[in-house]
Amino acid sequence: MPGIVVVGAQWGDEGKGKATDQLGDRVDYTVRYSGGNNAGHTLVVNGEKYALHLLPSGILNDSVPVIGNGVVVDLDVLFEEIDGLNARGVDTSKLIISANAHVITEYHKVMDKVTERFLGNRRIGTTGRGIGPAYSDKINRLGIRMQDLFDESILRQKVEAALEQKNHLLVKVYNRRAIDADQVTDVLLGHAERVRPMVADVTRVLNDALDRDEVVLFEGAQAHHLDVDHGTYPYVTSSNPIAAGACTGSGVGPMRINRVIGIAKAYTTRVGEGPFPTELLDADGDKLRADGAEFGTTTGRNRRCGWFDALVVEAAVTANAFTDIFLTKLDILTGWEKIPVCVAYDINGERVETLPPSQTDFHHARPIYEYLDGWTEDISGARTFADLPKNTQAYVRRLEELVRCRISGIGVGPSREQSVVINDLL
Ligand code: GDP
Ligand code: IMO
Ligand code: MG
Repeated sequence: MPGIVVVGAQWGDEGKGKATDQLGDRVDYTVRYSGGNNAGHTLVVNGEKYALHLLPSGILNDSVPVIGNGVVVDLDVLFEEIDGLNARGVDTSKLIISANAHVITEYHKVMDKVTERFLGNRRIGTTGRGIGPAYSDKINRLGIRMQDLFDESILRQKVEAALEQKNHLLVKVYNRRAIDADQVTDVLLGHAERVRPMVADVTRVLNDALDRDEVVLFEGAQAHHLDVDHGTYPYVTSSNPIAAGACTGSGVGPMRINRVIGIAKAYTTRVGEGPFPTELLDADGDKLRADGAEFGTTTGRNRRCGWFDALVVEAAVTANAFTDIFLTKLDILTGWEKIPVCVAYDINGERVETLPPSQTDFHHARPIYEYLDGWTEDISGARTFADLPKNTQAYVRRLEELVRCRISGIGVGPSREQSVVINDLL
């Protein structure tokens, strides 16, 4: 009964898609449990590149792709993504979606954009996909769920209720036009028939699969430090990407999770605003960005780049109880003479070795680096730990010590096969 969760250990874009895909052929179900199309997971399979935003990476292998109740679904994006994959010969017919998943509507996207603009230099730097407003409505009990699409009168009432307050805000505060409830309802109803066959009792399906000893892989989106409860609030997303989110976001109990794999990049990146102690604003940062092609899959924004921060990853190891780490993009570090790794912070003159609980302290943290020896050999063809140069091995071993978790796999290139397996992940 293996339930496996894959979680980003930093601020997203660690390579969760590739790591998930890597486990692919031995997985029976691949489940997205949080977030929406704010995610961007890039996979390279047989030389073909795929960018997925809403669909689980399992859509590209034989597993059953699942969208759990914890996800917020933009139906336009869903159909666009399905059509795009179908046009490339990918079968999407096995996809199932929870009846309890919430729907992102036009007004969520409008609210996301106007509130960001209104915040000015206090903005979050969201992806503008309506994610925050959709989760706000869910918590405010004003959300629209997938199942509401199949009851027209309920849907009309719910859309009207959700828009009542928003229209006051839009007109009186943000100086925008009111949004017409009937128009929104009609758009949603127009999607109902196409999505109806995909809607299923996901909780039952997954628990039955686990009863049959099948492998269920929960594919995290975003990351620990973007979690609304555990991340660098308010510079976070509005859901729970952490491992525990796999339970609430799909309806399986915590006892059914056997393994939690943290995905950590061999350096650090972040998109949007918020604190980032090891950020490099110099030519070194530009080099990491260029070498790692660190441009957002979803919004095309430059990713902010910096060195590996062991305190950031250790905090994720602790709160998610990672059993293993998959270290990605190690190949990108090839060619540096010395590679700095952040092992502590200087906070107002004091050395601290774990993430400070106070956000103010975190904003003031200055990284204290240990300088590890680099390597120049091309490692993209390595498949076993022994294939890696001595200094690369030492880098990996030192990270393991610092973050207090074993590293069981290493990414040495974007393609499915470009990985070093140390411990089997299934
Ligand atoms: P995700 O959001 O966590 O799935 O990560 P993204 O797909 O947004 O960003 C990771 C990027 O790095 C993608 O373009 C991947 O194809 C690429 N990638 C993943 N693993 C590796 C790796 O080990 N080496 C290299 N060079 N690229 C990788
Ligand atoms: P994947 O799954 C990186 C960031 C946004 C912004 C903040 C809030 O590809 O790792 P939102 O639109 O969610 O309200 O934006 O969260 N963000 C991500 N950053 N990777 C992601 O997903 C992200 N999803 C959201 O940039 O700072
Ligand atoms: Mg991404």
